[in-house]
Amino acid sequence: MDLAEFLLSASICLGLYVILSIFWPLLAGGAGYTPTPRGKTKRAMDMAQVGPRDFFYDIGCGTGTVLTEAKKRGADVVGVEIEPLRWLICRLRVSGARVILGDMFKVPLGNASVVFLFQYPNVNKRLKEKLGRELKPGTRVVSYAWKIDGWKPTMVVEDLYLYTIGETESV
Ligand SMILES: C[S@@+](CC[C@H](N)C(=O)[O-])C[C@H]1O[C@@H](n2cnc3c(N)ncnc32)[C@H](O)[C@@H]1O
Repeated sequence: MDLAEFLLSASICLGLYVILSIFWPLLAGGAGYTPTPRGKTKRAMDMAQVGPRDFFYDIGCGTGTVLTEAKKRGADVVGVEIEPLRWLICRLRVSGARVILGDMFKVPLGNASVVFLFQYPNVNKRLKEKLGRELKPGTRVVSYAWKIDGWKPTMVVEDLYLYTIGETESV
């Protein structure tokens, strides 16, 4: 194999990996990859009033779009991502963030003051139980795109849903 053939094969493999990586988190019980649009990210920060005293988690953090915004607001930020390429990009992109390569269902969330999620309705259903069990009263949860069925939001702006633990669960 000459250099040109090697580079072509490597590019094809990388391209295939990138395409597959968008979808394979579905096998781990989470959403595939789509980043939250920047305008929505800023609005989510405003809704949850993210600031320097916050411990902010994005569970399924992708390439770090949301973490970047939370960091700008002065929060300590933690991302959890199951797909290695996005995890690596996020780590390189968001300096000072703790970015965990792993399954969001297995990472403890007890020290969070704000949790952001952009998953699918059936995933939110599974996460609801974990969030309700682990988060402290007063913790804000922002879900983009899909509400958390069975919880009453404290604020809704377009397709962003804000929940406050202790006020929203008993619906
Ligand atoms: C719709 S994207 C959202 C990305 C990012 N939060 C944002 O809003 O820009 C969902 C992300 O969750 C990740 N994901 C899916 N299942 C996961 C799991 N079980 N643990 C950790 N991450 C997961 C996917 O790899 C993907 O990057």
